[in-house]
Amino acid sequence: MNYNQILKEGKNFLKASNIKNPNLDTELILTKVINKKREEILLNGNNKLNNTDLLKFKNYLFRRYNKEPMAYILGYKHFWKHKFLTNKSVLIPRPDTELIVEETLKHLPIDMSKKILDIGTGSGCIVISLITERPKCTATAIDISIKALNVAKTNAKLHHLENKINFINIDIDKYKSYNYDLIVSNPPYVNSIELNRLDDDIKFHEPKLALSGGSDGLRDIKKVIFKSNKLLKINGKLIIEIGYKQKNQCIKILNENKYYINKISKDLSGKDRCIVSTKLQ
Ligand SMILES: C[S@@+](CC[C@H](N)C(=O)[O-])C[C@H]1O[C@@H](n2cnc3c(N)ncnc32)[C@H](O)[C@@H]1O
Repeated sequence: MNYNQILKEGKNFLKASNIKNPNLDTELILTKVINKKREEILLNGNNKLNNTDLLKFKNYLFRRYNKEPMAYILGYKHFWKHKFLTNKSVLIPRPDTELIVEETLKHLPIDMSKKILDIGTGSGCIVISLITERPKCTATAIDISIKALNVAKTNAKLHHLENKINFINIDIDKYKSYNYDLIVSNPPYVNSIELNRLDDDIKFHEPKLALSGGSDGLRDIKKVIFKSNKLLKINGKLIIEIGYKQKNQCIKILNENKYYINKISKDLSGKDRCIVSTKLQ
């Protein structure tokens, strides 16, 4: 079979499973199999695929048919200015999460050396993006999942930052090091009802540990807010990603815990997504 025939059959196969972008996904899968750019495939449609590659192609296509996200099949996802390795142990970095990076950078002057903590680092996308932009800062990144932490460490190595970020496999409840200038976190914040309504791609493939914030979605946000109060310096910043319906509850919890709300930022779809706050006492 040549590339054109394979792409046509692949697209039709994915369409049958209601995949949103069957053309693009099929093309990207073929790029992975033959390790060539999309343009090359489209320009050389009559080239033939050997049997070993055809088998690989079918295997990946079948995974996509079963709604496995492209980032797991391809093994990477672009975030901020970089490429991050991804596998089923980590949440796939989301474009909305770039908002945390953008807001955090505003509180990290380029020539200053600040001490940062990333709670629930996952793939490491937030902390690695921050440290590449602010090389004078030092960071610790924690995650309760050892598998996620291993992905974050590999990503740090790929970005030559393994000596600048300290990765620790620990539950936020047990973490005791303090004196941070700034804490960032994208904690799990999906509530039990919304968890069941998520797209199949997410619901059946991304780690529950990274998504589920308990019955009201606030379980881990609360942990981050309480704990950060102990870990931050006075006037230190806490910058968290929240679910778009959680703004009022989060402001209340922050105020009750003596944080000043600096800013609430909206994501790409205009939804409240990120709160910047300051620990007052
Ligand atoms: C929503 S994901 C965020 C991943 C990454 N920071 C990002 O923005 O793409 C939340 C992460 O928090 C971790 N996590 C969940 N509960 C935790 C806990 N109690 N202590 C530390 N990490 C936790 C999960 O393993 C997961 O990697």
